Amino acid sequence: MNTKPLAIVTGAAKGIGRAICKKMIADGFYVVAVDIDANAETDLIAEFGVSNIEYKLINICKEDQVKELFATIKTTHTTIDALVNNAGIIKDNLIWNMSVDDFDAVINVNLKGTWLMCREAAILMKEQKSGRIVNIASRAWLGNRGQSNYSASKAGVVALTRVLALELGKYNVSVNAIAPGLIDTPLTQKLTTEVLQKLIDAQPSKTMGTPNDVANAVAFLAKADTQFITGQTIYVDGGKSIGANM
Ligand code: NAI
Repeated sequence: MNTKPLAIVTGAAKGIGRAICKKMIADGFYVVAVDIDANAETDLIAEFGVSNIEYKLINICKEDQVKELFATIKTTHTTIDALVNNAGIIKDNLIWNMSVDDFDAVINVNLKGTWLMCREAAILMKEQKSGRIVNIASRAWLGNRGQSNYSASKAGVVALTRVLALELGKYNVSVNAIAPGLIDTPLTQKLTTEVLQKLIDAQPSKTMGTPNDVANAVAFLAKADTQFITGQTIYVDGGKSIGANM
């Protein structure tokens, strides 16, 4: 049986999630990597090794799959020390062009999926009287043109984080959010060069962030001795959230 502290990381197959897995493993965690990417398992095991990571093909929007995940972990591991809710999607459009399907899809993964994972973790962490939950929101929760679905979902994640911090505080469980800005991942690599350059120009830092920038902040909040920091949203955005940068 695994004797290291255990972290569950969702959306672990690539981008920010994969960097979070790497950093958590470097910090001594055993990682349960969750994703819907059926091709990711071999690759993750090859990179990190079976003594550091296991892969679960789980759709976080499906209540039965999420419940099954936690039930399995409970029988094979002693505690769940950290949960990092990182899985997320975008389906951007101006509201008059946005379909109900695209609204539902984004709310479903980013907010409902995160909520489902938090609920199961809360039940176990409350019982074990310890735990760290880190939710990946986005600077876009403050408002991004063309992202009425995504910004609303991430605002929901910030609110969820604050409520769970209130509900779980007395059980030594901290719940915080990270709000990344523009980060270089497969998600942002889909943007056109022109759009990407405009976004970089609007950054006070004049650079994109890296998945490691987010992973470092997650790792800090996942530490056992940070329980007094809870309900917070930490921006990892090169200063973009400060305001206009004309
Ligand atoms: P990505 O698209 O590179 O990776 C997301 C991962 O989540 C993928 O491996 C995907 O298969 C997985 N996933 C999607 N739906 C899932 C589901 N239902 N169940 C399980 N896994 C699922 O995205 P990236 O850029 O690494 O983003 C990670 C998180 O960071 C997301 O929550 C995103 O909203 C957030 N974020 C990203 C920013 C960026 O600039 N890349 C900026 C702000 C926030």
